[in-house]
Amino acid sequence: MKIVVTGAAGFIGSGVASLLRDAGHEVRGFDLRGGEDVTQGDVRDEDAVARALDGADAVVHQAAKVGLGVDVSDLPEYVSVNGLGTAVLLAAMARHGVSRLVLASSMVIYGEGVYDCAEHGRRRPGPRAEEDLAAGRFEPVCPRCGRPLAPGTVDEDVPPDPRNAYATSKLAQEHLAANWARETGGVAVALRYHNVYGPGMPRDTPYSGVAAIFRSALEAGRAPLVFEDGGQRRDFVHVGDVAAANLAALGALESAPPGRLRAYNVASGEPHSIGDLADALSAARGGPAPEVTGRYRLGDVRHIVASPDRAAADLGFRARIRFADGMREFAHAPLATAG
Ligand code: UD1
Repeated sequence: MKIVVTGAAGFIGSGVASLLRDAGHEVRGFDLRGGEDVTQGDVRDEDAVARALDGADAVVHQAAKVGLGVDVSDLPEYVSVNGLGTAVLLAAMARHGVSRLVLASSMVIYGEGVYDCAEHGRRRPGPRAEEDLAAGRFEPVCPRCGRPLAPGTVDEDVPPDPRNAYATSKLAQEHLAANWARETGGVAVALRYHNVYGPGMPRDTPYSGVAAIFRSALEAGRAPLVFEDGGQRRDFVHVGDVAAANLAALGALESAPPGRLRAYNVASGEPHSIGDLADALSAARGGPAPEVTGRYRLGDVRHIVASPDRAAADLGFRARIRFADGMREFAHAPLATAG
């Protein structure tokens, strides 16, 4: 197939583009930063997008402004790059008769994970109170009885609860793609990436995730600073597995029912705590040892642990790189300078 990969010069997009090429596809890269096999352009630029789409069979849309951002001054940029950029791309796809889309989405759209209360069943707690965090009470409690909750596994039908501009813009992308699919009879798959890590990850910036922050600290000889008590859990998925998920999604589009978008978690299925992450990276580099600080960020959620089952059943995708192996490699892998 002739495939346009937006964001093809980035951390994830470059891995996706090279895997698609290895699989025999003709890949046209499109990114703010040009490069080998990558046309320089902005997804909000209608003319540049139209030129890139000419003759294409499918689009794999990885270009986005990512991360948590600095503060609300980032709001317009998230809406512009992620919202408007996707809208321009979808409109151009409709005009050029390109009917297949794989969209990079994110687990951030879920907000807090799912939990069970022994008495009140499934619960989705709201943001944690600052007084609880300040007192070191990090686990969310049942909104009805205040008792401890047991964290469960997020599947794709959990209602979204986006809590920051990035999450809101990612959810908007999914909705726009679903609208496009319905109106045009196109097929779309949204891949909800969990915490992606691996070689070429951008180093420490206000937009970086925790794996890059810890890795950058260790490289500079500083201890990874673990927030809360380190018990908060995430699913770290290797960038090579994320590329494989994109290839699997493209394959699945061939036989997917037209007119709709299906969403899938892209996760390792092997959740770990942030304390485990810091320990693994620090051990692989021979120190310094992590420091558990008790500090907290008000916007953070406690646990997000995903079910990878739907992606396995429908796309035939299962992550292959185990946490211990991936982190040993990541501890010494090169980082990139920009996102
Ligand atoms: C992250 C991304 C989010 C992305 C998602 C899925 C950022 C900032 N967040 O969400 O955009 O969509 O993964 O890939 O890019 N922590 C520390 N020490 C630090 C920094 C963070 O202990 O120095 C802790 C945080 O308190 C949090 C956890 O690590 O509990 C994860 O933080 P982070 O990677 O920033 O954000 P996510 O919520 O996982």
